[in-house]
Amino acid sequence: MGEKAGPLLVEPFEVTLRDIEAARGAIQEVTWETPTVRFPTPDGKKLFLKLENLQRLGAFKIRGAWNRMSRMTEAERSRGVATISSGNHGLAVAWSAKHLGLPCRVYVPEGAAGPKVDAIRAQGAELREMTRGDLVQAHTEELWRTWPQTFIHPFAHPHIIAGQGTIGWELAEDLPDVRTILVPVGGGGLSSGIAIAVKARLPSVKVFGIQAEGAASLPRVFETRTPYRVERPVTIADGIRIGIILPQMADLLLRHLHGCYVVSDDDIRKAMRRLALEAKTVAEPAGAATFAAWERYHDQLEAPVAAVVSGGNVDPGLLAEIVRGS
Ligand SMILES: Cc1ncc(COP(=O)(O)O)c(C=O)c1O
Repeated sequence: MGEKAGPLLVEPFEVTLRDIEAARGAIQEVTWETPTVRFPTPDGKKLFLKLENLQRLGAFKIRGAWNRMSRMTEAERSRGVATISSGNHGLAVAWSAKHLGLPCRVYVPEGAAGPKVDAIRAQGAELREMTRGDLVQAHTEELWRTWPQTFIHPFAHPHIIAGQGTIGWELAEDLPDVRTILVPVGGGGLSSGIAIAVKARLPSVKVFGIQAEGAASLPRVFETRTPYRVERPVTIADGIRIGIILPQMADLLLRHLHGCYVVSDDDIRKAMRRLALEAKTVAEPAGAATFAAWERYHDQLEAPVAAVVSGGNVDPGLLAEIVRGS
């Protein structure tokens, strides 16, 4: 199914509640506090949705990107920025670069097209394509260190993780009696940030990572307690398709998450449809994965449960097809 990721090239890092508190201050000039709403479950057990699909730019990524980029040093700024992204992070970096007056290059997976790529281009960023092989190498061998631009990592940077962690802070404030939190996992920045924030404030809450079957690197990380990468990840959920858990992220996730669950693309489609029709909210596949996990595993989850709906940037054709049920 896959092979182990490369050796640990960087020191493991730590992110604390203080870092997340600092991030709250840094990002409030550009981000929006998103609502947490109740979902009407048939058995009346409490389920809440944290609606990051209503965040500025349609996904949580602006939290981490702005926390990282607004604190860049003069030397970092002078080099311009570059990143690797399948969409939402690239858009957040391109938007932030435009607002900071910096040149920006975004590497997208080969053949990437559609609204996310168009939106990155519309922010004035330069787009380049990257093969899966180059993407894996850039991440596992940290080839981005040799790039002329300042690399804005999509997940493995303390400022990115602290920025995403501000969601956990808001959840702890909005739902002090929450028992279980479900968070989608791509590279692991969102889930580790949320878990660090929530567990510092509400230590007995269980945070689970959610992945799609075709890109499920995290279950192997929990089984083997080592980093892992899926050779050829395939899922409708582009936001969590990366299939790579880097060594420093494996370390953080193993320490801060309680466990993980996996859902199928079919589960995700059904979840997107229910979210649209019953919660009246548009989620992209990665954003609907947590609700899909609740549907499949709710008997095992202690309520109240909060599912993070991490983004809503979905191709309109796909959304129409899913809502029609075709
Ligand atoms: C909508 C959405 N959800 C979840 C994730 C996963 O975030 P992370 O890579 O920090 O695990 C992403 C990442 O791009 C995303 O775009």
